[in-house]
Amino acid sequence: MSAPPTIGAALGAATTRLEAAGVDEARRDAQVLLGHVLDAGREILIGYPERPLTTDQATAFDDLVARRARREPVAYIVGEREFWSLAFRVTADTLVPRPASATVVAAALDTVADRSAPLTLLDLGTGSGCLLLTLLSELAGARGVGVDISPAALAVACANADRLALSHRARFLCADWGGALTGRFDLIVANPPYVALDEALAPEIVDYEPGIALYGGADPLDAYRALAGDLRRLLAPGGSAALEIGQGQAASVTALMAREGLVETARHADLAGIERCLVLRHDGAFSGPREKTSWNVTAS
Ligand SMILES: C[S@@+](CC[C@H](N)C(=O)[O-])C[C@H]1O[C@@H](n2cnc3c(N)ncnc32)[C@H](O)[C@@H]1O
Repeated sequence: MSAPPTIGAALGAATTRLEAAGVDEARRDAQVLLGHVLDAGREILIGYPERPLTTDQATAFDDLVARRARREPVAYIVGEREFWSLAFRVTADTLVPRPASATVVAAALDTVADRSAPLTLLDLGTGSGCLLLTLLSELAGARGVGVDISPAALAVACANADRLALSHRARFLCADWGGALTGRFDLIVANPPYVALDEALAPEIVDYEPGIALYGGADPLDAYRALAGDLRRLLAPGGSAALEIGQGQAASVTALMAREGLVETARHADLAGIERCLVLRHDGAFSGPREKTSWNVTAS
């Protein structure tokens, strides 16, 4: 049996294997996976290439590289993904938080005049909880509800609230969009599923991420149509909703929200220059009860 490889040799072989499997950032992914096995940062991997692995470390690394070569996302393999400089636990039941979704967080924060105010937040389709929990981490006086139709995703969101010490300000509810909620929220965020059924996607997405987090229906705007009425009903007077949108969807989503009495007040592009977030308010013709949410939601 051959001796276990050094860090440098193991990284070199893994990079070659991942490149052959079509992985875009093969070297970086190999470093993340070996760092996970060794519980060490990139600087150790780069600084000590001659250091030998133990047999157990080499075997564990080989297993992770094999998974990545089958195009499983790195986030699922290591069990977490950084978003807004916070570490979120992710599983195959949750979408992997995307850097572009930080646009929604920034747009939502942009609408808040006083960041210590006792705001009520709602995140429709919370998944890992990344939008709600990031906003709670920035808005020290706020409390919020995260809704998802997937109980398994909500279990992950709850775990993330615990990990980030935000459980006392977060509630989670298993429901179909906002249908189970009453009252009004100052700030609503949503990143609904908006991928078209025939869109060509990388194997990392189509083979591993939950379909319910990607596809809203036969029409990629179906989820926006389904939740538009809830937005209108649950948004407090003077409050804002920040919605993530797919590339090229801004005009259509603005039009369908306008039919529900919600007007666009801002549009934000992500770092790639793609319009990624719409900010909406009531059109002024306000009707119905105005009281804030009572927090009488049942945690799932
Ligand atoms: C695109 S993912 C967004 C997850 C997370 N908010 C993020 O930004 O990473 C959409 C989420 O909506 C949830 N979802 C899909 N249909 C839903 C419905 N009818 N009611 C509530 N949540 C739903 C999915 O389970 C998924 O977690």
